[in-house]
Amino acid sequence: MTEPWWKHALIYEIYPRSFADSNGDGVGDLNGITEHLDYLEWLGVDALWLAPMFPSPQVDFGYDISDYEAIDPMYGTLEDFDRLQAKARELQIRVVVDMVLNHTSDKHKWFLESASSRDNAKADWYVWDPGVPMDSRGVTEYQKKFGHEGMAPPNNWVSAFGGSAWEWVPARRQFYYHFFYRQQPDLNWRNPAVEAAMFNMMRFWLDRGVAGFRLDAIPMLFEDPHLRNEEETGGVNEQGDPNLHRRYTYNLPQVHDVLRKLRSLADSYPGDPVVIGEVYSYDTAAVYTWYGGEAQDELHLPMDTLVGFGHSFLGQFPRFRAAHFRKYIQEAATQLRGSRPLFVFDNHDNPRSIDRFGDGLHDTQIAKLIATILLTTPATAMTYYGAEIGMVTTTPTRKQDVKDPIGITGWPKEKGRDGARTPMQWTPGAQAGFSTNPHTWLPVAANYTKVNVETESADPDSLLNWNKRLVGLRRTEPALHNGEIVLLDGENADVLSYLRRTQDGRAAVIVSMNMSGQSQTLALDLPNTETRSNSPRVLAATDKCLQAITSLNLIVLPPFSALIVSLW
Ligand code: NOJ
Repeated sequence: MTEPWWKHALIYEIYPRSFADSNGDGVGDLNGITEHLDYLEWLGVDALWLAPMFPSPQVDFGYDISDYEAIDPMYGTLEDFDRLQAKARELQIRVVVDMVLNHTSDKHKWFLESASSRDNAKADWYVWDPGVPMDSRGVTEYQKKFGHEGMAPPNNWVSAFGGSAWEWVPARRQFYYHFFYRQQPDLNWRNPAVEAAMFNMMRFWLDRGVAGFRLDAIPMLFEDPHLRNEEETGGVNEQGDPNLHRRYTYNLPQVHDVLRKLRSLADSYPGDPVVIGEVYSYDTAAVYTWYGGEAQDELHLPMDTLVGFGHSFLGQFPRFRAAHFRKYIQEAATQLRGSRPLFVFDNHDNPRSIDRFGDGLHDTQIAKLIATILLTTPATAMTYYGAEIGMVTTTPTRKQDVKDPIGITGWPKEKGRDGARTPMQWTPGAQAGFSTNPHTWLPVAANYTKVNVETESADPDSLLNWNKRLVGLRRTEPALHNGEIVLLDGENADVLSYLRRTQDGRAAVIVSMNMSGQSQTLALDLPNTETRSNSPRVLAATDKCLQAITSLNLIVLPPFSALIVSLW
């Protein structure tokens, strides 16, 4: 049986606003992406994940969709999309689109109709409730703040983006529910008409040839039908709202019914369309549930964000420690029961990994090690534009410069996500080659004269060329392509080492990374079968002194270095 394409893929996330501006309006667009597909082919990208490019009021920069079957004129047309896909296909690059199923824009015609009265044809397409009288028992002071016409929201649910999760609509004298911004009303997935409409819309894109979907915010699809209060866990979050334990708005069992149907839909199309899910899990056991347990009939690839983001949703990003990576790489290899992990270190919602893991002195070296983990462990790899060249997070320093609404409402504690969304850096020239317009929608990061595709592609030691080299090895070295992983030297606090070997025992590769600022002597406790090698071949090494080694004895790894060796 041939394996599905996505199993070994490098999937590259593009934030369309920020990748390449072909028409000089300061905002990226689809034709800009098409013009740069050659670069992605050169790098070895297998698939693009396009963040939403559908018509949208852009309150949440595309995650508030007002028409699911068209392209926002700011980004181009459906014909531009078709051209992008056709050229990508020639280069053997697939296109995965973002599917926002949980909510629409409040400007979507469905919502406009739904909000117009209590008895229109779409009255039940969103989650509506009359609320409770302000003076009823148990109504919290917080709830009262969001009351209207004597009615308070029905419960204490808080929007992830600040304020109550309920918004009053005078025409209905009711509240509607929104997990995210109030301009992103949640669809009522208990209504079969909603499910049918969304599935039809997904068929529209599959028929157009997309290679699958990245499902946005999928755990939030359903809410408790009794609208019970969430437990308050004490204190307030960065937006000043009570912290909640989200039991009634997150991962309800019905989500999994929808995923099973969606999986059948995808599987009914040729070419193995992939279903990727945006899930942040507390542990690997929770990641496993998203595949559909024993039946494996839900997501093909739930994001395993534990390796790259740890428990970021609790406000805790992991430090750059061998033990952290070893733990989650090992768990992904052993607790997913053969399902393919999807590792991800970067996306448009979080500070870039180079800043989160960097120590301020060795950031590029650390970024090389992150790339090494991403590309040499047995997982599908998901990366984010600019990570391959070392783009950094450029957080606005003044409130008036912030574009992301959560950064405006949460300032200064929450500065929003603009920092990870700055324009792609192509050249050392004006606007980093992103746009001819000096007024780009977000400013180009200051380091663009050094950190850019043109400069780095000419430098054999650059982060970009390190990435390219690893992407190549992942394709050509059987052990890296499809070998199992054996973690080595498991107690070492500074060096992360593992063996990849094919089942037939014909190929084996060792990957070692010194994650500390001091030189470390390599001590590999190789399994018996692997010790017969006396002529290791260096496949890649970050440092010159490692490139010429002839034996695995007494190797000294310089600070923050990586060594990848084939054993025979
Ligand atoms: C997750 C997306 O990645 C994020 O950018 C967006 O704001 C929310 N979902 C809401 O759609």
